[in-house]
Amino acid sequence: MIYLDNAATSWPKPERVYIAADKALREFSGNAGRSGHRLSMAAGRAIEETRLLLARLFNVPNPKNICFTLNATDALNLAIKGILRPGDHVIAGSMEHNSVARPLEALRAIGVECTKVNVLPAAGTEYTTEPNAVRNAIRSALRPNTKLAVFNHVSNVTGAENPIGEIGALCREQGIPLLVDAAQSAGTKPVDVQKLNIDLLAFPGHKGLFGPQGTGGLYIREGLILSPLREGGTGSRSEELTQPPSGPDRYESGTMNAAGIAALGEGVRFILEQGIEKIEEHEAALSSRLIRGLQEIPGIKIYGPPPGPHRSGVVSVTPENIECAEAELILDDSFGIAVRAGLHCAPDAHRLLGTLASGGTIRISIGYLNTEADIDNCIEALRSIVTDVTSGFLS
Ligand code: ALA
Repeated sequence: MIYLDNAATSWPKPERVYIAADKALREFSGNAGRSGHRLSMAAGRAIEETRLLLARLFNVPNPKNICFTLNATDALNLAIKGILRPGDHVIAGSMEHNSVARPLEALRAIGVECTKVNVLPAAGTEYTTEPNAVRNAIRSALRPNTKLAVFNHVSNVTGAENPIGEIGALCREQGIPLLVDAAQSAGTKPVDVQKLNIDLLAFPGHKGLFGPQGTGGLYIREGLILSPLREGGTGSRSEELTQPPSGPDRYESGTMNAAGIAALGEGVRFILEQGIEKIEEHEAALSSRLIRGLQEIPGIKIYGPPPGPHRSGVVSVTPENIECAEAELILDDSFGIAVRAGLHCAPDAHRLLGTLASGGTIRISIGYLNTEADIDNCIEALRSIVTDVTSGFLS
């Protein structure tokens, strides 16, 4: 199997991730922070170790400012609903995933207003998100009641990278917290919350960080206190009926996913050892190879920026002579290649790209463990599918 659906979930994981999950389930499946016995203490240590590794990866000054969540969607919901109140205004990017768009739509019903600013380049211009244009769009969207700005770092549809550094500087200057959806950049691009002026960073564990599904987290800048999404047992301040006032406990009620988080820690350790720049470089080289190969196939339209620094390993295409969903099935059945076809849970992005009504795109998403041979096989498979349809072999 050639797996090119890493934007959804990375696979395979580095071997040490599987070993860590197995070891954790066998050796420290106690409830972290609840008891003094060795299984509970070991689970607690594994969780804190992963927090530390994540803090190192994202340059978070205090690991206690990272709380674990189920995935990026859970972290985004916590950040968005933990800050916004009726009467507030929020600025969001135009290419957001439903993990942002749907919570914002739900909040509209209780009187939260939202302005979506265009981060897609004008038609006919080179596909890079121009920082000045984005800054100006944010400036004109600002209102006295703007309480949050939320942007993805990298689009899960086009692979385009937003100018988060410039957005962060502007938000900091205006005193507006910036929430960044790092679903497609955590573990694949450098993310430094201090350098980029990020106040809230939502990240999944199961994509670029190589953790298992059911893991993720939210970095919350020191001094920002959110309403928790849920209340419950934390193993701390148990005599009080109110939720702990700060720290990860405030947001981590209920038994923690110790095995998942321990395995995530091994994924992050692997990334730190490899070096994020090396990972970014490898994925950039493979995505350039893919784009150049696809450009030579007549009838395939490629979306997103050209090869270069402003994109990730996510590449979306539409063949003109076959439905994306059908091509996805043929890739799997006949070539053993896994990609994702459809809307990728980001209808706003497809509306802007003009691919909403036609069923979206075929998304090929590269991971660090992919090889040049994987890319070449995928290009040849798509060429063969498109050629077979054109010649009437497939109809
Ligand atoms: N959010 C994931 C994706 O884009 C599932 O595929």
